[in-house]
Amino acid sequence: MNIQQMHKKLASIPHMSPKQAEYITKFIQDNNIKNVLELGFCHGVSSCYIASALEAADGKLVTIDLKCAKYHNPNIETLSKMLGLENRMEIYYEPTSYTWRLMRFLEKKPIPKFDLCYIDGAHSWFVDGFAFFLVDRLLNPGGYIIFDDINWTYLMSPSLRKTQMVKEMPWDEKCCRQVKKVFDLLVKTDPRYGEFETWHHWAIAKKLKA
Ligand SMILES: C[S@@+](CC[C@H](N)C(=O)[O-])C[C@H]1O[C@@H](n2cnc3c(N)ncnc32)[C@H](O)[C@@H]1O
Repeated sequence: MNIQQMHKKLASIPHMSPKQAEYITKFIQDNNIKNVLELGFCHGVSSCYIASALEAADGKLVTIDLKCAKYHNPNIETLSKMLGLENRMEIYYEPTSYTWRLMRFLEKKPIPKFDLCYIDGAHSWFVDGFAFFLVDRLLNPGGYIIFDDINWTYLMSPSLRKTQMVKEMPWDEKCCRQVKKVFDLLVKTDPRYGEFETWHHWAIAKKLKA
């Protein structure tokens, strides 16, 4: 199935836009990426686009979300089966956080390694600051990290801003662009990372080879 046909099938389902899908498809193909780790799949739209982009290289996507993502309609299993991509992805549902599953990956022998990690999950300093630390251990030299929603804040989130958790959050934390803090303070200052780029709401970094 080509990307235009996928756009039609996924049109009414959040979150990845056709423009982002086209960007990541080209990114995967241009950089010879085979193994992708995704943190945060929701309905699985981004997962399907990524898995489809990996078909030519016979690559694989490992993707992680919370247990509650199972109850989305449609969920990732339904979407991936509809598009014939179910064998190209390994799906994990976590009770608490993808950071737990990343710990389990680090315990494996050999440790799984990835060429690209797409982070579109908690958007929080507490979770994604730590996720960066863990992902770094799983990323091949020469691999990339793409952070989505670099300008996202809790205050601007339609689904979260009215929750008790956000109401009780310090003003500074709810106004803070927390993914941007991870990118600016942890990724960009790390001498092992470079080729920084931003594109729309994405921030991209390469783990340098030497
Ligand atoms: C914006 S959605 C992902 C959208 C998806 N990448 C796409 O573009 O189609 C963010 C997802 O991250 C998940 N998430 C948030 N915090 C998480 C955590 N700590 N561990 C695992 N998943 C998390 C949420 O359940 C939600 O489904």
